[in-house]
Amino acid sequence: MARVELRNPANETGEWFVDTRCIDCGTCREIAPELFGEEDGLSVVRRQPDSHEDVGAWLAAQACPTTSIGTVSRRSRPGRLYPREIEAGSGVFDLGYCSPDSFGASAWVVVRPEGNVLVDSPRFTEALAGPIAELGGLRHVVFTHRDDVADGRRWAERFGARSWIHLHDRPAARWASDLLGDEQELQPGFLAIPVPGHTKGSVVFLLDGRWLFTGDSLAWSHERQDLTAFRGACWYSWSEQSDSLARLAERHRFAAVLPGHGGRHIGEPGDLHDRLVRLVARMRS
Ligand code: SF4
Ligand SMILES: [Fe+2]
Repeated sequence: MARVELRNPANETGEWFVDTRCIDCGTCREIAPELFGEEDGLSVVRRQPDSHEDVGAWLAAQACPTTSIGTVSRRSRPGRLYPREIEAGSGVFDLGYCSPDSFGASAWVVVRPEGNVLVDSPRFTEALAGPIAELGGLRHVVFTHRDDVADGRRWAERFGARSWIHLHDRPAARWASDLLGDEQELQPGFLAIPVPGHTKGSVVFLLDGRWLFTGDSLAWSHERQDLTAFRGACWYSWSEQSDSLARLAERHRFAAVLPGHGGRHIGEPGDLHDRLVRLVARMRS
């Protein structure tokens, strides 16, 4: 629960606030950029929501890894907000409840006839485990890279799921049941594609040639309205990341980017392909 005694004085005056335990993961600013902003390395409420925008504030509050977002009057939230299907009928759900252990990375569940897949790990909470059970549980838990393992083991054990991490990021999850190596189809229409760079064992997952779960290898910049990659948070090799994203552009098409950190975007495959090619050129220049 957000702590009003730690309310950041830079918040706009009013009911909603962010406390100073914020770790600046950026998730609230991604979910409700019209309400939250950054001030001296911490998120704050830039504008108090009106009653129609309340849901954005609640979604951010429920996703915040440090539970730093709340209301002065301690209002109770309006029912269950997550899992939240990101497009009606897609079977792709944002899970909220980000974990501080993954620096607030987003995690996703994909509902599939062959068994549901958890992509990266939210914090383990019964508030999510119950709804995930109602969606049919989990057959696989897959990790885009070592940074986003968080509570993955608990999720896998809870649902008796297989767990997958790339062999080069294995030290983060030695308990994982399966290792990823080369490109591999885990289920019909669900591809694991290695993209070494951000970490040596980074992987993106492509669902039905449309949804690309990118971890920290690729994201959307709302500021520039374009695809981006994080040079300042590249832990292994920027040149390898450029090469692996170039291979991704050569071999695959996608229409949506769903990252761990950074902006999400649903667009058009041809446009995103062209943007990825141009991003690679910028990365190499
Ligand atoms: S989601 Fe929470 S931790 Fe992350 S930037 Fe917002 S307030 Fe800070
Ligand atoms: Fe990362």
